[in-house]
Amino acid sequence: WKSVLDDALKKAKINLNDIDLIAFSNAPGLGPCLHVGKNVALELHKKLKKPVIAVNHCVSHLEIGKFLTKAKDPVLLYVSGANTQVIAFEAGKYRIFGETLDQGVGNFIDAFARYTGLGFPGGPKIEALAKNGKYLELPYVVKGMDISVSGILTNLKQKFDNKNKIEDLSYSLQETVFAMLIEVSERAMAHCNKKELLLGGGVACNSRLKEMAEIMCKERGAKCFVPENQYLLDNGAMIAVTGKKFYDKGIKSKIEIYPYQRTDQVEI
Ligand code: FE2
Repeated sequence: WKSVLDDALKKAKINLNDIDLIAFSNAPGLGPCLHVGKNVALELHKKLKKPVIAVNHCVSHLEIGKFLTKAKDPVLLYVSGANTQVIAFEAGKYRIFGETLDQGVGNFIDAFARYTGLGFPGGPKIEALAKNGKYLELPYVVKGMDISVSGILTNLKQKFDNKNKIEDLSYSLQETVFAMLIEVSERAMAHCNKKELLLGGGVACNSRLKEMAEIMCKERGAKCFVPENQYLLDNGAMIAVTGKKFYDKGIKSKIEIYPYQRTDQVEI
């Protein structure tokens, strides 16, 4: 981790002593990984004698998006490998309005890409192949405000085994699953009466998903905000920006890790 820190300091053209606050992600995620972050933060805290603040990873996607795009009160469509959630700040809390009931959409796409021999990461390859595909019918699985993709994955694998073209499967995957995400996002916007949609997570780098989000927002007179790709993916800046905002507002956090913390458990 020391070389990662050195590189970051070099890139930012600052010294360790210029740092006045240490922020790290304490939730949610794999316990051993969260522990590493916590231990590094505490080591720096001892060395620099500067305060430490812990932030929720999912919330920080929303906060970096707001920080960069000047969105004020958006619904966040957060689509990554492990996480697929529609989040908004409502009635004093960050709340999850819809989410995947099984896999994150990124992991679902990668699982299909691996099955078909496209390798990892699958997202960019599926996106390129989809440009030359036509639509094949797939299950469309929205349950209330939630989505499910495991049945769609099985269906796609069967269609692949039955010699359907990978271009058609890629196109149909994107059109179906992205439409499910946009449907749930739109309903969350209607329910919360919010006029802004913000994208976050690695899957949001997909230009067809961005296009669908923009079309939906245009049709309902809302604004669509998309940070540049390096801030859609997981990044250190989102933890720093959220940590600073919470610290400035006097929000306290326990220096503990919470692998299973839900977004609405974040104390504000
Ligand atoms: Fe993430």
